Amino acid sequence: MKLDDIKQISIIGLGYVGLVTALCLASKGYMVRGVDTSPEIVKSLNHNKIPFHEPQLNDLLKTSLKSKSFTASNDVSEVIQESKLVFISVDTPANPDGGIDLTSIKKVSQDLGAQLDDTFRIITVRSTVIPGTTDGVILPILERESNLKAGVDFGLCVNPEFLREGSAVNDFLHPDRIIIGYLDSSSGDFLEQLYEPFSKNIFKTNLRTAEMIKYTNNAFLATKVSFINEIANICRLTEGIDVMEVAHGIGMDERISSLFLRAGCGFGGSCFPKDLRGLIHFAKEHHYSPILLEATLRLNDFQARYLIDLALSEIASLENKKIAILGLAFKPNTSDMREAVSIRVINRLLQYKTPLSVYDPVAIPNTRAIFGSKLTYCSSIEDCLKDADVCFVITEWDEFKSLTPGQFKSLMKTPVIIDGRKIYDVESFSKEVTLMQIGFKPIS
Ligand code: UDX
Repeated sequence: MKLDDIKQISIIGLGYVGLVTALCLASKGYMVRGVDTSPEIVKSLNHNKIPFHEPQLNDLLKTSLKSKSFTASNDVSEVIQESKLVFISVDTPANPDGGIDLTSIKKVSQDLGAQLDDTFRIITVRSTVIPGTTDGVILPILERESNLKAGVDFGLCVNPEFLREGSAVNDFLHPDRIIIGYLDSSSGDFLEQLYEPFSKNIFKTNLRTAEMIKYTNNAFLATKVSFINEIANICRLTEGIDVMEVAHGIGMDERISSLFLRAGCGFGGSCFPKDLRGLIHFAKEHHYSPILLEATLRLNDFQARYLIDLALSEIASLENKKIAILGLAFKPNTSDMREAVSIRVINRLLQYKTPLSVYDPVAIPNTRAIFGSKLTYCSSIEDCLKDADVCFVITEWDEFKSLTPGQFKSLMKTPVIIDGRKIYDVESFSKEVTLMQIGFKPIS
């Protein structure tokens, strides 16, 4: 199949990954038809509204609806007919045991299989799935439902995504590299043609390896973060060693690179924790207990406790203290609270039965949905800090970075600041307030 044969591309599942993929491909001139089982999502998209916060996506939706290069529907059969390329990007949520829930992807495979006919179509799995899922679960369902043969009557590929929240559009349009797993080489070659305008760095491999690359990528980055967090905790054991400078020094080694070496109170989000647990679960199912991956997760949980221990090393007790928390989202520029460090910190602080005031520029509604009336939700930094004894900085939003020690001093009762993201200059802050920071203790 040649790129010119493609009139239309279908995307099944219009969550975060599916929608970014759909609108970015539409922006490159493809006719993209999206399907989702949720009537609310489809209605919202066709009325020009993105159901979550992601920079640039609203503009892409507006342009593509106007040019009719994107439409959303609830009906797979309606969308598939004209499409020779179909992406599956439904969610694969975590099960309580760390494995992934394949209910949606199995259902989609069934629906899709029932629609396949003698037109050769390439089915591409973009959802994150445990190695062996595409050939072991999806392929048999597609074959059974269609009475066709994979690799002969229809193509099958895996094309994992590496989109970061907050920069997903840019990550799609300018990727570091593209990974394509294929069953039949002509389908792999076709996807290569599709992606060549986006990146020349394309790696083609088999289906299982492509699935494994996705998990390994996130496991490696999460481990890199836990590694520098451990070094940060060691730096604080003595005076005068700043983990940021240590990270800078080692980052100059090309074998290490400076990216993902920002020490802090831990990682969160929809991918790192879930994918680590998924990989650990997969390994254990095959009777291997992954030592390093489990340690990466353990250290990440520990960082939240470590932050509270930092406060306790200064003020002895948190009982009857008023506590302020600045930053709730799992990282800046998102309202996403999934696996956010703030949840772990708040849960621990709640045990002290002490008043907790929280502030975040965008994540308050999502936090309220988790903690309800247990917290005081503030509409400004000032409200949150007013009369507080201790302030924990959990997410490095820009508006927190510009706060001065004088502002903390004038608003708080006893200005003790626990800087979980290393955003303040310890030397200058320490002249006016008590600042405890991850990864650095100044020389006394
Ligand atoms: C991640 C991957 O980067 C992306 O490729 C994948 O497809 C989805 O998961 P995302 O979850 O959006 O993206 O966030 P990312 O920017 O990677 O950060 C993940 C977490 O690590 C955040 O909690 C962040 O605060 C933390 N982090 C990141 C650090 O603590 N230090 C760092 O140096 C980098």
